[in-house]
Amino acid sequence: MKTILAVETSCDETAVVIINSAKQVLTHEIFSQTEHKERGGIIPEIASRAHMEHLSNLIKSAINKSNINFCDLDAVAATSGPGLIGGLIVGTMMTKAIAHVTQKPFIAVNHLEAHALVIRLLYEVEFPFLVLLISGGHCQLLIAQDVGKYIKLGETLDDSLGEAFDKVAKMLNLNYPGGPLIEKLAKKGDGTRFKFPRAMIKRSGCNFSFSGIKTSVKNLVQKLKMDEQDVHDICASFQECISDILLDRVKNAIIMAASLNIKIKDLVITGGVAANNFLKGKLKKYINLNIFSPPSNLCTDNAIMVGWAGIERLKRNYIDPLNFAPRPKWELENY
Ligand code: KG4
Ligand code: ZN
Repeated sequence: MKTILAVETSCDETAVVIINSAKQVLTHEIFSQTEHKERGGIIPEIASRAHMEHLSNLIKSAINKSNINFCDLDAVAATSGPGLIGGLIVGTMMTKAIAHVTQKPFIAVNHLEAHALVIRLLYEVEFPFLVLLISGGHCQLLIAQDVGKYIKLGETLDDSLGEAFDKVAKMLNLNYPGGPLIEKLAKKGDGTRFKFPRAMIKRSGCNFSFSGIKTSVKNLVQKLKMDEQDVHDICASFQECISDILLDRVKNAIIMAASLNIKIKDLVITGGVAANNFLKGKLKKYINLNIFSPPSNLCTDNAIMVGWAGIERLKRNYIDPLNFAPRPKWELENY
């Protein structure tokens, strides 16, 4: 059995896990930075300072609570990209220092791979499977062929889906992060009232574009006096629009996989926006694949997914050198 300590610092969550290959999470310590809430978005400088402040205490606490020693670990892992460079440096350097002192292997985890693989901690999902990765930083459709082996079928040409949720929420004077609030308010809204543009729909391929929808919501908000019901209806209509786009793109992904002679049985919906039950419900209703999604605490950023990706890589002996430099941009395809 293998046990590893893993660290996540790529955005605004500082998190540490100790996890083993028997799928046991010994401890998961997570500190979510709330400063960004008041500012309506993530300020990279503040985020990296907060990681600096909290990471070593979280590591100490994880070691104490799991009742193990550094010498009991088989490896250490960190999210080394993609993400905000300040946070990536803090997490990667700290983890490499532990690897150096304890003489344990170091594993540089790609944050996107962590989102894609965490499902295998929970369910027996075998390769190859389709991944709809919808988060605050990314929006992609991928085929996961194996650990470290991915084909990107399409991605957003502008905003990520989480960004679109957060920006629309801001226009509606809702707090950051806006995704969960939009989902909540949409429940009392009429999703057929406003027709936002379904960008890319009916086009070939799997790319996405959300900037037109954002502009369309902005224009509407400027026109309306906006009472409470309007806000609910905008939230519901926005989600309706997004779900139509996701549906269209996933259907194309299935066609593309077939044209590559890759037989797909399973779709994994993951990343922060995958916490949205309305979007998942729509895909489950109309897509003829087994659909898997992690629970919401494993959809949004956490260290459990990084630890699990580390375990999957360690099992295959994918170890990285201690001079591995964090990569703010890091495509999964060239992993
Ligand atoms: O994966 P994540 O924690 O961070 C990145 O790796 O980017 O995703 C955060 C994003 C935020 O934009 C947040 O608004 C969105 O996930 N989000 C949601 C929901 N919960 C979180 N979006 C829509 N509906 C939700 N329930
Ligand atoms: Zn993420």
